[in-house]
Amino acid sequence: MDSVTNEAASRDRDSASHVAIIMDGNGRWAARRGLPREAGHRAGIEALRRVVRAAPNLGVRILTVYAFSTENWRRPASEVSALMSLLVEFLDSETPELVAEGVALGTIGDVTVLPEVSQQALQRALAKTAGGHRLLLNLALNYGGRAEIVRAAKKLASGVAAGAIRLEAVTEERFAQFLDTAGLPDPDLLVRASGEERLSNFLLWQSAYTELWVTNTLWPDFGADHLEEALAAYRTRERRYGSHA
Ligand code: FPP
Repeated sequence: MDSVTNEAASRDRDSASHVAIIMDGNGRWAARRGLPREAGHRAGIEALRRVVRAAPNLGVRILTVYAFSTENWRRPASEVSALMSLLVEFLDSETPELVAEGVALGTIGDVTVLPEVSQQALQRALAKTAGGHRLLLNLALNYGGRAEIVRAAKKLASGVAAGAIRLEAVTEERFAQFLDTAGLPDPDLLVRASGEERLSNFLLWQSAYTELWVTNTLWPDFGADHLEEALAAYRTRERRYGSHA
């Protein structure tokens, strides 16, 4: 291998190709400015735009972001509907740039219970961005790790009951094929904004060996420099996957 290839190989090995983000702190950002929570979510979308633009150049190939959790339905109806409207606005306004930047959209979570307009906007955006090869932007919508695992278990159980899957053939790998992330590598790095040190039901199965990086920065203040900092911290980690070697 010549030195250029060598360098590329080591960059590939050290870079976090799948980054998951918990975009937390929108409400606090707004409250500190005396603004409604919706203004925080709007600013959160700007932060998402910055990160999506920066990610491919930093070696990120998959970005999975927690946009709306199964627990978020418990927020006041006005905030839920603001988030749903922002989603449609984001999808419709951002799709041309996503296409131009080679970004494909994906989703995880049960989107079938989202409002009809949100589902239609998603379908349009998914179809238009399908050819993107630089980055997969995976939106977690009505997503909860436990709900995802239960849905996967039900699909698997019905396959077993129907005789299509032998119980003895059920392995971790086979089970993972029923998760919403089927076919995707597990996240290398999970970033959480706004200082909380918990998973909040995000990617429970997939995060088994994921490196965690938490910043006190509120999500609306997050930018390319924070992503760079997270990736630099990731490169210093020694990933052992439970082994000693
Ligand atoms: C947490 O902040 C953030 C959310 C519940 C939603 C994240 C949503 C966005 C960044 C914008 C929407 C994204 C798309 C793609 C439509 P919080 O409200 O819990 O903040 P707090 O903990 O400070 O109250």
